[in-house]
Amino acid sequence: NNILKGSVSHNIVNNNASEIIFDTKELEIEKVELENGVKAEFNLTEEDPILGKGLVVKITPETKKVTIHYKTSPTSEAVQWLNPQQTAGKTKPFLFTQGEAILTRSWIPCQDSPGNKITYTASITVPEGLTAVMSAKSIPEKADGRFNFKMEQPIPSYLIALAIGDLQYRSLGERSGVYAEPSMIDACVYEFQDIENMITAAEELYGDYAWEQYDVIVLPPSFPFGGMENPRLTFATPTIIAGDRSLTSLIAHELAHSWSGNLATNSTWDDFWLNEGFTVYFERRITEALYGRDYSEMLALLGYQDLKQSVGELDKKDTHLKLELEGRNPDDGMTDIAYEKGYFMLRLIEETVGREEFDAYLKQYFTDFKFKNLTTEEFVTYINEKLPQTKEMNLNDWIYGPGLPANCPEVVSNKFKLVDEAHNHKPNDFASVEGLNPEKWTTHEWLHYIRGIDVESWEKNGLYEIADEAFGFTNSGNAEIAAAWFEKSILGGYEAVNPKLEEFLINVGRRKFLTPLYKALLEADKATLANDIYVKARPNYHFVSTSTMDDLLGYKG
Ligand code: BES
Ligand code: ZN
Repeated sequence: NNILKGSVSHNIVNNNASEIIFDTKELEIEKVELENGVKAEFNLTEEDPILGKGLVVKITPETKKVTIHYKTSPTSEAVQWLNPQQTAGKTKPFLFTQGEAILTRSWIPCQDSPGNKITYTASITVPEGLTAVMSAKSIPEKADGRFNFKMEQPIPSYLIALAIGDLQYRSLGERSGVYAEPSMIDACVYEFQDIENMITAAEELYGDYAWEQYDVIVLPPSFPFGGMENPRLTFATPTIIAGDRSLTSLIAHELAHSWSGNLATNSTWDDFWLNEGFTVYFERRITEALYGRDYSEMLALLGYQDLKQSVGELDKKDTHLKLELEGRNPDDGMTDIAYEKGYFMLRLIEETVGREEFDAYLKQYFTDFKFKNLTTEEFVTYINEKLPQTKEMNLNDWIYGPGLPANCPEVVSNKFKLVDEAHNHKPNDFASVEGLNPEKWTTHEWLHYIRGIDVESWEKNGLYEIADEAFGFTNSGNAEIAAAWFEKSILGGYEAVNPKLEEFLINVGRRKFLTPLYKALLEADKATLANDIYVKARPNYHFVSTSTMDDLLGYKG
């Protein structure tokens, strides 16, 4: 029936209240009880299209526990139900949830704000042959098909997560491992070889890992994000399994959230950059520690390119670090600004005060805000006190002003300079140019090369065919390279990619890939093709992606 059915008990801190309000969306509330099964009166407020309905429960000042019996609906936004055909193994169904930003309320009635931290226990019953995992510690199974969990550290509701499927687990080291469908597990173990080293590097930078165990689950390709930092259990897209470990900086990113975001959490979604900007900074420090500065600078420069593009496309107000999302969906604020403008402001601080001092500051920050929340304003007060030099850095221009301030640090990548040089030659020629060595290029150099394609001249001079012949981009098994290439190919009218493009769009539900590809189709006057593909692909996408693509394509069902 694609419905979850059960109950949730909230143990509450009661400040002499006579009613308590929970967030719900598309939930059917069956009954509400207080202590000892005493029935409580409740009502649901009028539906808000973004926020859902408030569940208002009458309590007494003595009430310490409220239990809600409820059912989800098949369209509950957090939950994606996959039939066997939509999995790698094709024999068993799969389910996963995505909570961030405000989707948890569609599968658990709760006070669904990032400023509200809770611990939880859970008991999940699933059909035979399936395994349930959560963003919590697994407590060994007592009865068949019943899985028990405990999250002992306080977390915000957007980090509660569940996945159910035909899952295998393999350890990667002392405190890390990976879950995946059986046919994927070997490839995942190979890809994630460096996870233990990442944890060690992260701890050396900013203090002990607070969550005991760090596992990753590789989900079916419809997962709408690259990764999601669910505590103890990162959720990841299979599109990072490239076969050469070249896309694992995404794991460094989700791991870094174990400090930034999961320990020190944005109080509101207007402060989202506190989660993501710090995490991108931390991610690049981990990749620098493992793979060297040349490598992390390539990633920083790709990030800078994304930032420039976003600044060019977004409304001015949405390019401030501090957002004003009142009345809007918080998802609208989740752009490259939080990630990359946030990163560059932190890098500015690092470069101004010096790395040693900044690292000591960050370590203290993660200790002081462990299991707490903060707003942007609290961040400013805190950093001005600990690093007084920051008062002279015009941080307010970054936080409350548009675009990219003049003191933005510059990234120089010598590796990318060589890639730029390649564009002065035909794609089938530059392999022989001294010093270029494309046979040694990594994924990031190829990405920079593809981003540098001048669509008009490539189209005019037939360079798409030549490059494809030389490098096989259309058939690349690397999803980042394939997606970047498809986008340029659409814009340059190189239709040889179309069958692979269609296959990709039907198979992959990761929004970061879908948005630019559908946009490129529209820009290239291929709206009919875009819609034809979308109709076939849409049943495979999670709500996060359909909601964005429906808007983009004007889809009305
Ligand atoms: N927390 C985000 C994913 C997210 C953002 C979920 C906004 C819901 C709303 C996660 O940590 C993330 O940033 N993922 C990125 C990968 C990263 C390497 C930038 C992604 O999914 O692409
Ligand atoms: Zn993130």
